[in-house]
Amino acid sequence: MYRFIDFYHNEVTLSFESYPFSNDPKHVWVVCRYGDQWLLTEHSDRGYEFPGGKVELGETADEAAIREVKEETGGVVKELTYIGQYRVQGKEKVIVKNIYYATIQLLEKQEQYFETYGPVLLKEIPQNIKSDKKYSFIMKDDVLQRSLVEINKKWNI
Ligand code: GTP
Repeated sequence: MYRFIDFYHNEVTLSFESYPFSNDPKHVWVVCRYGDQWLLTEHSDRGYEFPGGKVELGETADEAAIREVKEETGGVVKELTYIGQYRVQGKEKVIVKNIYYATIQLLEKQEQYFETYGPVLLKEIPQNIKSDKKYSFIMKDDVLQRSLVEINKKWNI
């Protein structure tokens, strides 16, 4: 279990155990790999980030993950793997997010990308991401760094 303070000074608790905070989380975040590149989206307000969002009514978190990747990047998920979960103690509410690793089989151009400008492909995640204004705040705390370590351990990336 890891505990740290995020970009907005909220407390974040992160774990790579099986569903430590909720069996039914309402948020998802998906670290995507397309061939030998990372697949992100450019969120219209927040900037570059891995895709994700809220679980809709009648949908499982896994289904939401697949849907969000498609809506925000056009990516069709080949394989989706749960890797962990984090809890953010916000000013007004607490949110719990599943973290996934997904491999993408193809990118289908969308008529419209929900809340985003569509896909962004990167060979490398930049070292100076915390100070790079192009990147979203959700990419600027230890969730990203620790998740990349987990992914590297399991998939050797
Ligand atoms: P609405 O219900 O649509 O109004 O959503 P919201 O704007 O309140 O945001 P949301 O429910 O997605 O998240 C609530 C708060 O949690 C946000 O203001 C963020 O500060 C924080 N938050 C959401 N996602 C993340 C994340 O991935 N990482 C971190 N560190 N904080 C997050």
